[in-house]
Order: sequence, then structure tokens, then C-alpha cells
Amino acid sequence: MGEVVLKGVGKSYGNVVAVRDVNLTIKDQEFVVLVGPSGCGKSTTLRMIAGLEEITAGVIAIGGRVVNQLPPKDRDIAMVFQNYALYQHMSVRDNLAFGLRNRKVPEAEINKQIAYAVKTLGIEPLLERRPRQLSGGQQQRVALGRCLVRNPAVFLFDEPLSNLDAQLRSAMRLELKELRKRVPTTSIYVTHDQVEAMTLGDRIVVMKDGLVQQVGTPLELYRKPANQFVAGFIGSPAMNFIPMQVATTETDATLSAAGLTLKLNGERAAVLRKSGARDIVFGARPQHFVLNGAGSGLLPFQATLSTSEQLGDQQLLDARVGDTPIRIAGVDPFLRLDDGVNLPLGVIAENIHLFDSKTGLALT
Ligand SMILES: Nc1ncnc2c1ncn2[C@@H]1O[C@H](COP(=O)(O)OP(=O)(O)OP(=O)(O)O)[C@@H](O)[C@H]1O
Ligand SMILES: [Mg+2]
Repeated sequence: MGEVVLKGVGKSYGNVVAVRDVNLTIKDQEFVVLVGPSGCGKSTTLRMIAGLEEITAGVIAIGGRVVNQLPPKDRDIAMVFQNYALYQHMSVRDNLAFGLRNRKVPEAEINKQIAYAVKTLGIEPLLERRPRQLSGGQQQRVALGRCLVRNPAVFLFDEPLSNLDAQLRSAMRLELKELRKRVPTTSIYVTHDQVEAMTLGDRIVVMKDGLVQQVGTPLELYRKPANQFVAGFIGSPAMNFIPMQVATTETDATLSAAGLTLKLNGERAAVLRKSGARDIVFGARPQHFVLNGAGSGLLPFQATLSTSEQLGDQQLLDARVGDTPIRIAGVDPFLRLDDGVNLPLGVIAENIHLFDSKTGLALT
């Protein structure tokens, strides 16, 4: 069983707090992605689970066994790093066998495991080559192979695709998803790329400044971000934010900013009234604006076009509402729009987000 449990896990380097109070249960066979900006503590968290870094607070259990005091080799884990860490002077076969030979696994068993791994990864023809005779993607597969032959309870990945170019990254992402179906081992995967997080994770853990911001399925994070940070981090192009003032009455709420007034009623107005917030941040994804949109379910407003970006299948519009820049996605690529033109827009009311401007927390 590859269940991984973190309770109150923290790590400090002298005065630097790298990770604070992480509480997380990763179920057997679950694929969990840790995502966040550089320096937020992803690698440190992973390395603590691996046993490569001592923890300064909390408890880590793997498969129901507390591993705080166990060295990495006794934790039943296998880790893939960004730089692959392949032995350059050894063939692919010997790279794959290395860890098993160290453990004194019988040679016949090693051969069986290698045959299984190279077949699973489609790298049979590469067995006698050296790493420098392989492409980046092939080296990545060998590094994965080294994990497969170990048949561990848990796979740990630290940005395994970040050395590859964009095209190969997305190809390898698909391969990882396919591999996952054949080998459904518990996996913890670190990346700073939100697309990788969204496409690979059963659940995603968003981190910032050593703190877990939110844990959820890709769709939960996209649709119900717990705070402004998660809202801005997940989704592409990023969510638009506009600081606004609130005025409420018995029945509705009015949000206002320079050049923008939005009237909310029903549940949204009730949320604002209950919170008593005067200053909020209004959030809307670029995909949730509708050009020339009017009618029920839409909140109308005006913007001024700054410039448009042609992507072929759609246009992205950069516009201004008062002083605030916004982006609009999904616009008809054949529509001719002159810079500076007035854009009548609607935003889909049920898809808007409201955040407390002091705490950044979603108002729900
Ligand atoms: N050995 C160390 N001594 C002191 N500070 C450290 C050490 N290792 C990491 N840190 C600090 O801990 C914090 C978290 O680092 P970590 O490597 O976990 O970040 P990360 O989220 O993996 O970032 P990246 O995306 O850049 O890899 C950073 O502020 C980093 O500077
Ligand atoms: Mg890192």
C-alpha cells in the first residue's frame, strides 16, 4: 500500500522557513501534483518525503509506517529528478541495473525487471547505448525506467520534464499519463507549470511561500479557487483582477471602479452583504467575457481595446477598463477590430469571483 501521510510537516534552514505545517493525505495509487512558483517549497517537501532532507517538524508516514527516522533506501520510494542523474559511463542496461545490484538483487530477477521496464517504456533498442547517445526524451525514459525496475510503493518526480523543449514536454506528458494507466503506483509530482499540474494530477496541491494554499481536483481549483493567488496561478491566460468598492442594499450590491459599475443580486449580493467588505477584488477569467454580450446571465460593461493578438483559432484582446488592463479570450479570429475602439462586453455572472482585498480569500 502506497498511502503517504504528512502531518504538520515543516522545514527550516536556520532562519529560513522553507515549508510550514503541511497536512496532506495522498491515497494509495493517487497521482498528486505539487505546484507553485519558484522557491515555494515544492522540492523541499518532496525531498523530505524521500528522506533526502531531514524534517524539522511533523510526521511523515508511507504505507502506514512512520518514516521520519528511515534513510531513503528503506522508504520504498523511487525518485526521478529534473537532470535525470544517469551514469554517463554506463550503458542504459547498467544504469537500469545499478540500484538493484546495490541491493544484491539476483541477476535473473534484475534481467526480468529490466525487460519489463524497457518494454513498458518502449526503449528496448537503446539498452546497449550510453546516455550521451540518447535524446533528451530517451534519457527521460531511462530515468523513469530506473524507477520502474525498483517497483516501489511511491514514485516521486521533481520537474522531470523541465529540461525538454515544449513539443517534447507535451509528448512526454501524454506518455506519463499512459504509463500511469499501466503502472498505477502512488505518485507525487513537482512542477511549476500549471498546465502540467492540471493535466496530470488527480489532485493538485498549490503552494506559496512554504504554505499550502489549496488542495483539490483540477476542476475544483479552476472553478472554486480558495484565494486570489490560486485564482491567478491556475488557468491560462491568467484570471483578470479589478479592485472595486462595494455598496450593498437589502436586495442587491453594486461594485464600482473607475469606468466600471457592476450590479449583483441574489446569492452574490448576499455574500457581499454578509461579509461586510467595502473593498474587494473582482475576478473574471479571459474566457468568461462575451463580446457584444447582453441579456440574462451577463453583466454588461464597456472597455477600450488596446491591442489584439491573433492566434489563428481565436483572438486574444488586451483592453482597458478605466485604468485597469484586462484580457479577453476566445474572440472570433475573423473579426476586424481597430485599436482604441470601444468594446461592449458582458461577463458571465455565474463565473465571476470575489476576493477580500485584505486577506485575498474568496468570498463565498
Ligand atoms: N539548503 C538550503 N539552505 C537554505 N535555504 C534553502 C536550502 N534549500 C532550499 N532553501 C530555501 O527554501 C525555499 C524552498 O526551496 P525549494 O527548493 O523547496 O523551492 P521550489 O519550490 O522547489 O522552487 P523551484 O521551483 O525553484 O525548484 C527557498 O526559499 C530556498 O531558497
Ligand atoms: Mg524545486
